[in-house]
Amino acid sequence: MKNVACIDDLRSLAKSKVPRAFFDYADSGSYSEQTLRANRADLEAIKLRQRVLVDVSARDLTTTVLGKKLAAPMILAPVGLLGMQHGDGEILSARAANAAGIPWTLSTMSVGSIEQVAEATGKPFWFQLYVIRDRGFSKQLMDRAIAAKVDTLVLTVDLQVLGQRHKDVRNGLTVPPEFRIKNVIDIATKPAWAWSVLNAKSWTFGNISGHVPGMENVNSLAKWTQDQFDPALNWKDVEWIKKYWPGKLVIKGILDIDDAKTAVKMGADAIVVSNHGGRQLDGTSSSISMLPRVADAIGNDTEILFDGGIRTGADIVRALALGARACLIGRSYVWGLGAGGQKGVAKAIDILKNELSVTMALTGMARIADIDGRVLEGGVAKKKPAAKVAKPKATAKPKAGA
Ligand SMILES: Cc1cc2nc3c(=O)[nH]c(=O)nc-3n(C[C@H](O)[C@H](O)[C@H](O)COP(=O)(O)O)c2cc1C
Repeated sequence: MKNVACIDDLRSLAKSKVPRAFFDYADSGSYSEQTLRANRADLEAIKLRQRVLVDVSARDLTTTVLGKKLAAPMILAPVGLLGMQHGDGEILSARAANAAGIPWTLSTMSVGSIEQVAEATGKPFWFQLYVIRDRGFSKQLMDRAIAAKVDTLVLTVDLQVLGQRHKDVRNGLTVPPEFRIKNVIDIATKPAWAWSVLNAKSWTFGNISGHVPGMENVNSLAKWTQDQFDPALNWKDVEWIKKYWPGKLVIKGILDIDDAKTAVKMGADAIVVSNHGGRQLDGTSSSISMLPRVADAIGNDTEILFDGGIRTGADIVRALALGARACLIGRSYVWGLGAGGQKGVAKAIDILKNELSVTMALTGMARIADIDGRVLEGGVAKKKPAAKVAKPKATAKPKAGA
């Protein structure tokens, strides 16, 4: 991909290649997008500390997450409808992540199904679960994930009701797109996209359509969420999922110290400090502003992952310095996918890795494990979560709704 220098270039390319409704779906945040903007602004406000004359000739970007080695402290985040950014978007993204030696996460709201991705990639991936009203269906999804050799379940807890993205309403977002005049003209100007989607294995919500009675023709994400997601979701659900799921459990969407402490008590193997990329509670804190507080509160009791606004390698260094073990990457790779399919995702990963390596060099850090508060202006060394996570105490069982 010539002339692509940074993630923003991938975004511009994606904008020119992906139909507007799907580009906007990925790009937007909820309501007035205050939190979406805060995620970026607060990251950019964190100044790094330039260090010189440190031998950084042998830099090592590898790390471990949940006991597995990663080529870099990055995980591709669960993202709905990847198959609408590019035909077979889930499979292509998973392949790019596998080639780069980092984990990839399949969303419940994907176009490609668990089985299609497993068959096409032949490699383990992470699976993200939304719990819906019909707990039997959630159980079925977990069973399907187990059968597909998924070892890590990412339970997303910050979307029991859907935050509205105004552009999705205005664009009349449906999957597959409805052929209204406006859409047809837009799609006609994106022939490569249309070709890739027409030739894809799936065009609709692969994990859901045909699996839930009465939901054979799900095509509206907003309607499905409104009808099926359960506002009654609470910590008791986490308890049964923890009991049922045989592998690692990651709780995603924690932005509060008390919630983080409860997640640890419930036996989460990791948490993701996240506000869903500014797509849910508008007006809440940026993820990065909450990260050090959560890290202080739970120390080494569980692994802390982070997402929200990562667009550069320097952002990854900032998050690691403030207590994250690794970062989930959302839009940065989604734009790569829209820009150039598997090559575009590989490019996004490459850009972030190279920038991370250079930032490490210029802050005098040779290894990921060395990155701590010292890389920040005025920062001091801070205890980092240990590589080996203490076994969670399974005793405390908070009440429902805690
Ligand atoms: C288009 C899009 C779809 C998403 N779909 C899901 C999803 O299905 N499940 C989920 O847990 N998070 C979902 N997320 C949130 C991401 O996993 C992640 O938290 C967020 O994108 C991180 O912020 P960033 O995009 O600024 O990196 C989605 C994000 C985007 C941009």
